[in-house]
Amino acid sequence: MPENIGRFLSSVAEAASHSTLVKMTLSKPADKRDELRNVYVKPVLIKEQRLFAFTYHYERRDEVKNYDVAQTLDILREMIPNRFLNAMLFTVDEDVSLLVSGKGKATLQTKKVQECREQNLDHDKQKNRLINPANPWWYQLGLTTREGKVTADMQHKFKQIYKYAEIVESLVKPMKFDGSVHIADMGAGKGYLTFALHELLTQRLQMDVDIKGVEIRPDLVLKINEIIKADGLKGLEFVESSIEAYHPEKLDVLIALHACNTATDDAIASGIKANAELIVCAPCCHKQIRQEMERSGRFDAITRYGIFLERQAVMITDTIRALILEYFGYKTQVMEFIEMEHTPKNVLLVGKKTLKKAKDPKIIRQISDLKTRYGIGNHYLETVLDFNC
Ligand SMILES: C[S@@+](CC[C@H](N)C(=O)[O-])C[C@H]1O[C@@H](n2cnc3c(N)ncnc32)[C@H](O)[C@@H]1O
Repeated sequence: MPENIGRFLSSVAEAASHSTLVKMTLSKPADKRDELRNVYVKPVLIKEQRLFAFTYHYERRDEVKNYDVAQTLDILREMIPNRFLNAMLFTVDEDVSLLVSGKGKATLQTKKVQECREQNLDHDKQKNRLINPANPWWYQLGLTTREGKVTADMQHKFKQIYKYAEIVESLVKPMKFDGSVHIADMGAGKGYLTFALHELLTQRLQMDVDIKGVEIRPDLVLKINEIIKADGLKGLEFVESSIEAYHPEKLDVLIALHACNTATDDAIASGIKANAELIVCAPCCHKQIRQEMERSGRFDAITRYGIFLERQAVMITDTIRALILEYFGYKTQVMEFIEMEHTPKNVLLVGKKTLKKAKDPKIIRQISDLKTRYGIGNHYLETVLDFNC
């Protein structure tokens, strides 16, 4: 297969996995007599499953079939260049065009797009978004124009907001809460994801919420609370506090997205201590464990290379966090989140409180083995929870 066809398929696979694929077309039949003239592909959400609807345009009829990502890629592999010589991929931020000549030479072109595009997963072409950029707070927060269009430089942020809303919806929808749901979003920053959470839960899921955005910077807290007041939003408030000092009486859901270094551990610890039903955190920088590993001087075949030491430290930090959550009775998943502009970290740790027996000694052994192997004295989360493996 020519290299550029492989590259085109990789772009499709990436756009499909990051939910940024807007549409795709296959045209210019390799055999002019082919009854199939072109194919139009768009993402759809059917029974909670993300699929791709292929509309096959034949000379006298159209046919629609839905496929998952793997099937989609198989079909594209089969059809390019055997059935079609042109393929166009439109994602939220770029157009990728593939042209195969009669002699089999494949040319690939990628163009960044300026306009504001989003993925539409609806079957009937009606937009059904979890978050509505036309709501006034998005303008007041500086993400949209007055008319509710996402500005060019906030496209990436909004992609993250949509993805976050999708993930939270899938986590919260099946859960049952008694009365108002108490949520703390620790290290809430400029509030984008906190407003997204409030909008999703109150407008889409019609839930009664008490969301506190915990933020150490007073200027942000002041500004955000003014927006909340101006929009008359109920059940949302920013609190000026460090994560360490914030100990809510009741906490059902703990959220900490991109809180720096060990602030993530402080947040997880308060979720565990408050017996939160759900803990969701996207760790940010991971200095503590890397420093311990460096200090120990105990490097293995992987960690003797600086970059791999850094990556391994990230993995170990988050693995130990996941294990500690498990130890305290949380069924824990490590999921992919969308990356931030200033960090390639894109992991989401999700812990759901279960009734299963907590404090399994096997987990202590696993943590202890990891610490011994990499010369780690203590994970900061152990310290704040006051236990030692
Ligand atoms: C990278 S921003 C993330 C903002 C938001 N959660 C998001 O993901 O878009 C991290 C925020 O956490 C705040 N922060 C960092 N350490 C904190 C701490 N110990 N207590 C409270 N806030 C903290 C910072 O001031 C900053 O606004």
